[in-house]
Amino acid sequence: MNWVKFVVLLALLLVPLIDCAKLIEVTPVSGNAEERRFPEWFKFGAATAAYQIEGGWNEDGRGASVWDTLTHDYPELVVNRDNGDVAADSYHRFREDIKALQEVGFNFYRFSISWARILPEGDLSSLKQAGIDYYNKLIDALIEAGIEPVVTMVHYDLPQYVQNLGGLASPLFVKYFKIYANTLFRNYGDRVKMWITHNEPFDFCVEGYGSGIDGPLVRASGVGEYLCGHYTLLSHAAAYHLYDQRYRKEQGGSIGITLSGRFFFPASNETVPSVIDRALQYQLGWFTHPLFSESGGYPPIMIEDIADHSLLEGRTMSRLPEMSERERKLIKGSADFLGYNYYSSRLVERDPREYDIGSPPSLDKDAGLIYSVKPSWKRAKSSWLYVVPEGLRGILNWFKEEYNNPLVFITENGFSDDGQLEDHDRVEYYRAHLEQLLGAILDDECSVMGFTAWSIIDNFEWLRGYSEKFGLYHVNYSSPTRERTPKLSSKFIHEVIQSRQVPSNVISRG
Ligand SMILES: *[C@@H]1O[C@H](CO)[C@@H](O)[C@H](O)[C@H]1NC(C)=O
Ligand SMILES: *[C@@H]1O[C@H](CO)[C@@H](O)[C@H](O)[C@H]1NC(C)=O
Repeated sequence: MNWVKFVVLLALLLVPLIDCAKLIEVTPVSGNAEERRFPEWFKFGAATAAYQIEGGWNEDGRGASVWDTLTHDYPELVVNRDNGDVAADSYHRFREDIKALQEVGFNFYRFSISWARILPEGDLSSLKQAGIDYYNKLIDALIEAGIEPVVTMVHYDLPQYVQNLGGLASPLFVKYFKIYANTLFRNYGDRVKMWITHNEPFDFCVEGYGSGIDGPLVRASGVGEYLCGHYTLLSHAAAYHLYDQRYRKEQGGSIGITLSGRFFFPASNETVPSVIDRALQYQLGWFTHPLFSESGGYPPIMIEDIADHSLLEGRTMSRLPEMSERERKLIKGSADFLGYNYYSSRLVERDPREYDIGSPPSLDKDAGLIYSVKPSWKRAKSSWLYVVPEGLRGILNWFKEEYNNPLVFITENGFSDDGQLEDHDRVEYYRAHLEQLLGAILDDECSVMGFTAWSIIDNFEWLRGYSEKFGLYHVNYSSPTRERTPKLSSKFIHEVIQSRQVPSNVISRG
């Protein structure tokens, strides 16, 4: 079943009804708490990523990914020198993950495929049948359990071999990614109907190819992140058009990309609206403008600023790659949905200082903004994760206004703590965010097709190792058998899915 098409169709059918309701001033749905339900077609799921849960890092011919290199060669970069060699051992215990998903009542499971498990040297010369088989078993077991597979093609863990050839900063990447995507469509497309090409390019480009503080540790600030963004967009578009031309008719699925980004609120009453727009354009707009705007191409504000700054620095070309007409057209409209991960928001104001050519360039310097937080915002275990549920509604409305209400798929949302089973703060985080989401859908008429919790189980949180936990299920990392135990939040989400409602406050349970 293709639920993207179904949602679009349903939305088209509902539009006239909604307009009529406005004309005759029917009491809004919001007046009656009983009727504030998630629509029938709205789906709930949970997510993971291969490196964060699988383990089995060198089994059955799997090659190294950039995260194996980071954790093995630079263990001091990760809290407690942790790594994903075993992780939650989902390579052997995926059936326990599926049992957890079933207990909560999720409709779909968003997981990622390890490219290095299937094509350790990037292309078909290195094809590993055992890797293909592992994901066949996982997909079949999910379908058997009545859970739809939603596949992310690459979630931070490029094969090291592809990285050695330049990774996402090289035009060669587009060819390799197309071969990989083709391998996935051919092997799994009969059963997988929801594809996500990339996950959070803002994050892996800025930290992985700009500052280089995160995998794959490429330090090329002000240059590398923009090259990475460019080839992320082009490789995404290549996979999209391949699917369109060769597979869509027969397989009937949908393909999109997952982006991350915060919502922004004015830091003071002197912050003008154009500053909020600037902040949004420099984070989400970098990717959403090329994909979802009428005109395509990078946000004009980025094109102008980065060209000006590059000239001041004595360069003969902009650090932001030029997008040719051909590329602009290839990228524009090449997504059936906008996958979006929401965690947090910030206050923002303009940095009053002049552009300083004396220090190294960076996206941050190009943007020229100062970020802060409200003292009243509660913080999760993660230093960056301030709880701002109204930001979710804000960003969904921004998508709607800016890009003519594109179909949005919330592909992550979650809260970190120490891993306790009585995770009341996570319950309140989900309660408040789902309430805002319901407002965006029912009151603001934002087009949102599904919600994904990050994560079904506690897992390897990148540079934070196992010190920050996001799971609805606890994983006993001291035990060789990695038992999964439900937390309070898993029961809360179960109730939301059953009732399709969000309680206005949380009743404490024994
Ligand atoms: C802005 O806020 C400050 C206090 O935070 C207040 O003193 C000032 O009058 C405000 N300015 C305007 C134009 O509202
Ligand atoms: C985790 O596993 C260890 C070793 O099997 C056991 O001693 C411990 O009680 C377990 N912890 C929890 C919270 O279940």
